[in-house]
Amino acid sequence: MPTSEIGLDKTLAALGITQAPRVTAHFAEVRAHFEKQFRAVHDELEWKIFRDRWLGRKSGVLTKITDNWLKPATPELKRVVGACLNELRAYVETEIEARRAAIEAGTEESAVARERVDLSLPGVIRPVGSHHLIRQVLQEIEDIFFSIGFSVVEGPEIETPYYNFEALNIPEFHPVRDDMDTFYLDLPKGAPTPLLLRTHTSPMQIRTMEKQKPPVRVIVPGKVYRRDNPDATHSFAFHQIEGLAVDTDITFCDFTGTIEYFVRQFFGPGVKTRFRPSYFPFTEPSVEFDVSCPFCGGTGTATGGGPCSKCKGAAWIELFGAGMVDPTVYGFVNYDAKKVSGFAFGIGIDRLAMLKYGIDDIQVFFQNDVRFLRQFP
Ligand code: DAH
Repeated sequence: MPTSEIGLDKTLAALGITQAPRVTAHFAEVRAHFEKQFRAVHDELEWKIFRDRWLGRKSGVLTKITDNWLKPATPELKRVVGACLNELRAYVETEIEARRAAIEAGTEESAVARERVDLSLPGVIRPVGSHHLIRQVLQEIEDIFFSIGFSVVEGPEIETPYYNFEALNIPEFHPVRDDMDTFYLDLPKGAPTPLLLRTHTSPMQIRTMEKQKPPVRVIVPGKVYRRDNPDATHSFAFHQIEGLAVDTDITFCDFTGTIEYFVRQFFGPGVKTRFRPSYFPFTEPSVEFDVSCPFCGGTGTATGGGPCSKCKGAAWIELFGAGMVDPTVYGFVNYDAKKVSGFAFGIGIDRLAMLKYGIDDIQVFFQNDVRFLRQFP
């Protein structure tokens, strides 16, 4: 029923209401009308429209009743109209205010309900990752060298030919560069020096000695790059850890003792080591270190008979290159070759990881297949 049906725009006289009981009855109708409309008010917006319709100052229902029914009422009816109006106003105001509170509480309640954490729901599983095997092995190696006084330095993966070759006693056109030739960067014409991805961590020998006077005891872990075709033992990117110790009194015995200590710590006390003569331009003498095969216990024979598949029956496995620092190298870093001596080594981390953990394909380190990674949590 629209509000107009209550006759708000007419006077009571015009509505034919001239006696007190009719007035009371008519007000009861207004109230019933209010209640019916009010039932449909559920949210804040509806509530505001409703409030304005009933309590609005200019044209709200109560204002109209005051203007059209009370003010023009005959003196006999004025009192009863006034009383009814007051009662109606009190009722309407209380109801409207109560509903406001209820709506507010309801909205709050539903917001709380929406945000409530349901503890019975299954949790979100956030799997914890783990270090890659290469990183784990690197840390094992680092810990061993830390324990005998070495510290870690790191260097750039993009190098100049000077650090990667020349200062390591590998001049241009030296045949050893053929093995190592690598990825050169495309540089704009007129660049001051060519740049390349380092082929080994050895350039850091030079950078370290340029920066500090002896004694030097550092290891240098990092990625290195070569133009190798990928197969089970080659990758165009792999990891090395360089070692360098230089002081005034370092002997070949210190050198072999240090390497043997490292190899035993890494593979276990049962392994034997040996070195064979080798050649590197930056060491003299140079050696290749071997370890007795950790798989067949250095016998060359597999458990079930026949040659061990890992060392191919040789009983020894080649580990890494090393040597006493060639005096020529000291010339590049202003060390007095007559006063200092030292040793260096270059360990392939991937190779050591493969040997220790029985992995027969280097490519698995770079494929990041979780079925592989999960075996080394
Ligand atoms: N830089 C050599 C390579 O990548 C490894 C190496 C051999 C490093 C002997 C050394 C060393 O420090 O003394 O093949």
